[in-house]
Amino acid sequence: MEVKLQNLKNTILKELAEIKDSQLLADLKNKYLGRKGELNEILKALKDLSDLEKPRIGKLANEIKQELAEVFAQAESAFNPNKQTNFNFDASLPGTKKEIGHLNPSTIVQYEIEEAFLAMGFAVYDGPQLESDYYNFTALNIPADHPARDTQDTFWLEGDNLLRTHTSNLQVRMLEKYGAPFRGIFPGRVFRYESTDASHDHTFYQLEGLMVDKNINIGNLIATMRTLLSSVFKREVDVRLRPGFFPFVEPAFEMDIKCLVCGGQGCSVCKQSGWVELMPCGMVHPKVLEAGGLDPKVYSGFAFGLGLTRMAMMKYRIDDIRLLQSGDLRFLKQF
Ligand code: PHE
Repeated sequence: MEVKLQNLKNTILKELAEIKDSQLLADLKNKYLGRKGELNEILKALKDLSDLEKPRIGKLANEIKQELAEVFAQAESAFNPNKQTNFNFDASLPGTKKEIGHLNPSTIVQYEIEEAFLAMGFAVYDGPQLESDYYNFTALNIPADHPARDTQDTFWLEGDNLLRTHTSNLQVRMLEKYGAPFRGIFPGRVFRYESTDASHDHTFYQLEGLMVDKNINIGNLIATMRTLLSSVFKREVDVRLRPGFFPFVEPAFEMDIKCLVCGGQGCSVCKQSGWVELMPCGMVHPKVLEAGGLDPKVYSGFAFGLGLTRMAMMKYRIDDIRLLQSGDLRFLKQF
């Protein structure tokens, strides 16, 4: 009987080693370990053994049975790697949350502003960030030795090239390409060679607007700005206009909004003044129209340069500009 058991075990192990799929495995298990299987047949004969042999053989038989059960379980999970044998599926457990991407706050604001301008008949344009001195400065009535160049610290590249310091680089490019009448906005990344603090970064986003046609005046400019601000902030925002200076607009204005981070009390974003410089703007300078191939006696227009990054900071009350480009997910996930 002992020999029979050992032989059976060896036969099973040998056959098991040759099994190629889970169906054959199930058949084999049934044949030997099933209720009417060979092992049970042998075990039935235990009762006929003498009292002396019964405990010893019985123990051996159980050990073999257990060992074979384990070998079969292992073989089964090898065929079905996904099937965990001790796994209880609980359908009421909450699932794992899928990670989804997030838009940067300045992108959210950019899309909102685009919507507002599209509704006013403007189109959205893109253009080069690596720019020539001509389009970034000279064509905008800022010749080589003009002091206005010093107000926009520039990353100079080889030749007369640079990283654009503002989205105004597209004004003359667009007029050359599309002529008048023109209505467009150009959102995009700009660069300044300056040290960073809570309200300055070397890389940030602007959104330029340009409208040129016959009989465009300051009233058109102000109405457009008002529509824009109320659609972004979804409420009336306190604004003030100051005279400004930019060589490519005349007259030039600075449009400020009351700081939404501190409500006008003074904080690091508004440099304790309660107001944030949001949008320089003005009427397109005749020299710029000329550079774009238009006759300033026939056409006029307005332009504005909105600080997209700053707008996002106002809208979401972000008190440090450096967070926006930090790539820190703990920050980005809040929007
Ligand atoms: N390009 C200017 C700047 O970056 C802003 C501006 C745009 C001013 C359009 C007037 C008109 O500072």
